[in-house]
Amino acid sequence: MTQINSAQAANALLLNQVIAAYSRTDNARWNVVIESLLRHLHGFVNEVELRPEEWWTAIDFLTRTGQACVGPRQEFILLSDALGLSSAVDNLNNASLAGATESAVTGPFYVPHSPHIENGGSIALAGEGETVLIRGRVLDTAGHPISAAELDIWHTSPNQLYAVQDKNQPEMNFRGKLRTRTDGSFAFHTIKPIAYPVPVDGPVGQLLNKGGRHPMRPAHIHFIVSAPGYQSVTTQLFTRGDEFIDSDAVFGVKDSLLIDYQRNTDRSLAVDWVLDHDFVLAGPSAG
Ligand code: BEZ
Ligand code: FE
Repeated sequence: MTQINSAQAANALLLNQVIAAYSRTDNARWNVVIESLLRHLHGFVNEVELRPEEWWTAIDFLTRTGQACVGPRQEFILLSDALGLSSAVDNLNNASLAGATESAVTGPFYVPHSPHIENGGSIALAGEGETVLIRGRVLDTAGHPISAAELDIWHTSPNQLYAVQDKNQPEMNFRGKLRTRTDGSFAFHTIKPIAYPVPVDGPVGQLLNKGGRHPMRPAHIHFIVSAPGYQSVTTQLFTRGDEFIDSDAVFGVKDSLLIDYQRNTDRSLAVDWVLDHDFVLAGPSAG
């Protein structure tokens, strides 16, 4: 007991030294962030009385997480997502603004250079599944249409892999950018997405397993919607009723982002499903 108390007293002194060493720069934000980070890290070590073998396990885990980040594989983003940290940062920095579409995490599979498609075109280059027409408008918070807004869209193939994960798919499969017409409307065709697992063949897979968690994400489509003079939104639309809607492996689901595909009843449209959905962009931020 006395030994622990003296170790904790030593650690209190140590923490003060470490904070003083890092947090006296002329960058005020850095000083605040680094001091808090050090307090939490040292506080954690003291609280759980971390053992050497646990410390080594953590070092090994982080080392392997870094080593897994090769090419498009972003294991650190996945780690942040699986711990709910990405959603926490998202919640803090993208507070829902006066009726604007809510944001959701980007995830590790975003690739910036998707091909432009015409309105009414398809982003499905290969893959079998139920066809869907997705259409709607991009509006401002007063309900006015925004013309020439850009929608950058990506989702998984019916084999549960993004094109970026799968050499057997065309590189641009299920990815595309399109612009709204003058009335703010847009439309594109694709295959209705299904639930899929985040990659489990790396350290994050082991973490999920250790925590007794499944790796599934409910079916969703990613969008980045942007227009000059408006705040862009990175978001996802989730299929209501999906088996995994309440247990998303990366804690990304928000109620306002649940959508209902409708069975197509219009014979002039050669699709199985239709989704009508509007996006709403907030004006420029005051800050
Ligand atoms: C995704 O939806 O693409 C995703 C998000 C977070 C972690 C893994 C995948
Ligand atoms: Fe996704």
